[in-house]
Formats: sequence, structure tokens, C-alpha cells
Amino acid sequence: MNKLNGKWALVTGSSRGIGQQIALGLAQLGCNVVVHGRKLENTKQTLEKLLAYEIETHAVAGDLGTPQGINLVINGANAHPGQIDILYNNAAIMGENTTITTSTLDLWQRVFQVNLFATVMLSNAFAPAMIERGFGRIINLTSGIANQPNLAAYSASKAAVDKYTKDFAVHLNDTGVHVATVDPGWLKTDMGGENAFAGVETVLPGALMPVLDENNDPHGGNGRFYPAQHYKHLKLPTENA
Ligand SMILES: NC(=O)c1ccc[n+]([C@@H]2O[C@H](COP(=O)([O-])OP(=O)(O)OC[C@H]3O[C@@H](n4cnc5c(N)ncnc54)[C@H](OP(=O)(O)O)[C@@H]3O)[C@@H](O)[C@H]2O)c1
Repeated sequence: MNKLNGKWALVTGSSRGIGQQIALGLAQLGCNVVVHGRKLENTKQTLEKLLAYEIETHAVAGDLGTPQGINLVINGANAHPGQIDILYNNAAIMGENTTITTSTLDLWQRVFQVNLFATVMLSNAFAPAMIERGFGRIINLTSGIANQPNLAAYSASKAAVDKYTKDFAVHLNDTGVHVATVDPGWLKTDMGGENAFAGVETVLPGALMPVLDENNDPHGGNGRFYPAQHYKHLKLPTENA
């Protein structure tokens, strides 16, 4: 039996794009999935795709751009299933493409709210119970974006996620809970656009490495960075493997 059978994962932004692939990959490993989008109807397509797997699913909605929306997601997951073992902080926004010197406070606040502040608040909501149970995985989506001053708010928010993850990992040492970052690579999604290097499906199985990778050392993959494209030729283990 795979170690993820019976576990519950919340994947933010799993209504489409990379989050949807992560949800499908987790389902292939036998993991139950809480699907998330800004609106409940946005989660419909992913929920339909998950019907192909013998797992339980639930959907939550909330705009991570507001504290109220973050609370809706937390309260929704706490109401059902009531236990989150794996949290993928995947949802993010890029913000407008703009000359760096004319980027507004409003843009920086919106981008940091979804990409960093929501990540921190969701982690704070679910990590304590993971620590108490002695098992948990928190995976923060980062980016390899570089030298694009026109997207500085997005880029800086991901740098902040990287730093936050490293500090969080120290807090989690020896708890059985690991936090890690995944860089999916430049992929064809609504955010990545049509000119991206690779199809969205190539994020698997790399994006699942933090939940598969035990490393047989006391800290496991805690604090590690996983470039998803490095693993794209690996075969994803199946539910019954
Ligand atoms: N695509 C790339 O090339 C690339 C490269 C590096 C890193 N990444 C990272 O990978 C992750 C996923 O990216 P993606 O390309 O799959 O993005 P995407 O196609 O734009 O999908 C974004 C997802 O996030 C949700 N979302 C957007 N704004 C939200 C908000 N305010 N509150 C709550 N949820 C919100 C969307 O939900 P709705 O459907 O409800 O709008 C959707 O499920 C992000 O962290 C991104 O930074 C992507």
C-alpha cells in the first residue's frame, strides 16, 4: 500500500494549470484531495477528472487575495475533511507586466497577499496539527524567474517564499513535518502562456517528489528545493505499486 493512501492533501489553485496536475498526481498515489479555486464552480473540471481515481475529494473556495477568503479556505478544510496532511501552496498571481519604476503599491500588495501572505497563513493554520500528529508536508511553489524587472513584484514574492521556506524548515526540524519548495519550470498554463518551454503535465512527477522523497535521513526532504523538470523522466508510482 502506498504511504499516501488515506491521507488528505489541500492543493490551492487546483482548479486548473499546475495545481490541477498536482491534484491528479496525488490521486494517482491514492491520496484524498481537497480541490481549491476562487469560486466553487471553478473546481468542477478538476473534480470530474478526479473521478477516475478511487479516492475521496472535497472542494473549497476562497479568494486568497483577502483575509476573509483565506479564512474561507481554512474553515472549509477544517469542516471537511478536518485533517490536512499535505498542503500545496500553489495558487499565485503574476500581476501586471509593468515598468519597474511605475509599479504601484497596490500591485505589490496584491501580489504579495496571494503569493506570500496566504502561503504563510495557510501554513500557520495547518502546521500545528501536523506537528502534533508527527507527519506533514508543506510544499510551496516557487519560480526560476530571473532578470525580468517588468515582473519584479512576482519575482520578489517568490524570493520571499524561498526565504520563508528555509526559515520555516528550521522550525520544523525533527517534527516529522517537512516544508519544501518546488519550481515547476516554465509551463504552458494561463500564467505561463503559450510560449512556455513545456506542457503542464511535465510538472509530474517532480512536483510530487517532496511527498515521495524520504531520503532515509532524520530531516527527510525538509527545507529542500525540488526543480520539477529534473524528474520528468521518472515514472510516477501508481496507487497499487
Ligand atoms: N506556469 C509557469 O510557467 C510557472 C512557472 C514558475 C512557477 N509557477 C508557479 O506555479 C503555480 C501555479 O501556476 P499556474 O501556471 O498553474 O497558474 P494559473 O494557470 O494562472 O492558475 C492559477 C491557479 O491559482 C488560482 N488563483 C489565482 N488567483 C487566486 C486568488 N486570488 N485566490 C485564490 N486562488 C487563486 C486559480 O484559481 P481560479 O481558477 O479560481 O482562478 C488557479 O487555480 C504558481 O505558484 C506559479 O507562480 C508557474
